[in-house]
Amino acid sequence: MNTIETIKPQLNELFQAFQADLWISVREAVDRTGTMLKKGGLEPAIHATLGEQLLKLARHGKWEVRKSLAHASLYLRHESFFRIMAALDLDDNAMVRTAARRTLSRRSDIARSDSLRNQHGDRMLKWLTDLEAKHGLPARNAARKATERLNAQFIKELNHEFIKVISPLDASLEHINNGLHDPDADMGKLRRHAQRALDRSRFLFAIMNSLRALTEKIELDFQMETVLSMIDEAVHLVHDRAPENQCLSVDVQISPEIALQANRHLLLQAFSNILQNSLEAYPDRSHKCCASVAASIEENGLIRIVIADQGNGMPEEAVNDAFQLFSTSKPRGTGFGLALAKKIIESDHGGSIHLASSEGVGTTITIFLPQDQEDRSW
Ligand SMILES: Nc1ncnc2c1ncn2[C@@H]1O[C@H](COP(=O)(O)OP(=O)(O)OP(=O)(O)O)[C@@H](O)[C@H]1O
Ligand SMILES: [Mg+2]
Repeated sequence: MNTIETIKPQLNELFQAFQADLWISVREAVDRTGTMLKKGGLEPAIHATLGEQLLKLARHGKWEVRKSLAHASLYLRHESFFRIMAALDLDDNAMVRTAARRTLSRRSDIARSDSLRNQHGDRMLKWLTDLEAKHGLPARNAARKATERLNAQFIKELNHEFIKVISPLDASLEHINNGLHDPDADMGKLRRHAQRALDRSRFLFAIMNSLRALTEKIELDFQMETVLSMIDEAVHLVHDRAPENQCLSVDVQISPEIALQANRHLLLQAFSNILQNSLEAYPDRSHKCCASVAASIEENGLIRIVIADQGNGMPEEAVNDAFQLFSTSKPRGTGFGLALAKKIIESDHGGSIHLASSEGVGTTITIFLPQDQEDRSW
């Protein structure tokens, strides 16, 4: 982060230019200030100093300078921003007023996405600005509306899921609390409530971990990997999750030459989530739970992987929702497994995933993956 001391010469030079007789020099300095603010990494004291100096320019004699000031202030994180905007919003010149209003509306984009961190707001703003440059203002507004709606929907669903878990957790804790003050309390019942509370809090942890995995933006690292080795490891991962998972028996029909550029860690997560579902599709784990995995290379060069089971299958209406977050038919399911697999296969690897299922017959998941990741324009 830059401090006042480290960029003092640069600031002095800008402030001198703000006082230049030639208005073009002033405007040029204002534009440079805007670029510097946009780049970020300035300590708050720099914003404060710049803000005070920029505020003086709100009364500059040339409208061109005041218009540039309206644009340059967008990333100014100091209360002087609002004073500059208040002055420019009442400017005699219509161009200046329009520029100020535009900056104010952009600024509200930052404020909306700023609830997490300033950096996040800046990134979001850059993304929206790029979108506007490429596809115009309607595209920017449509993208903003869509993300707002998605956000609202996501928070609503998350809230619903949390309430579902927290209500019984709260009830169990209340029982335990009452029991601690009652000398005749039934210890067996208290223990059961303690166990239930523990289960619920672990379930909340599982939801939080899955949420992080789903939203985390990591730098993807791709290596050449064979499909066979990844499927073999995914089967082991499922076996190692619980002793009763040993009943999963997978018939693997994959030529060892089929390979692709992949992020192994992520694809293992996707494959093991899918295989875990195949295992869970068999209510009776005392017998073998059979699944099969086959892979081939399509004519168009895509790798096709088919994972199938003859478990309980899904009713038609559940098939449509299978990839939605929180859609689960299991008492202890989070409904994240397939959503995460879809994100890994489609967003991270540029492939696609499809599910076909029939109740009482079984489920087939078909995945298409590109062999290389050079063209990552998708
Ligand atoms: N192979 C399958 N056979 C039958 N139903 C399946 C299969 N795969 C998925 N499903 C259905 O799709 C739902 C969503 O699956 P998903 O993996 O996303 O969540 P989950 O398994 O319920 O929970 P989690 O994976 O988070 O523990 C499941 O609850 C189940 O109803
Ligand atoms: Mg699952």
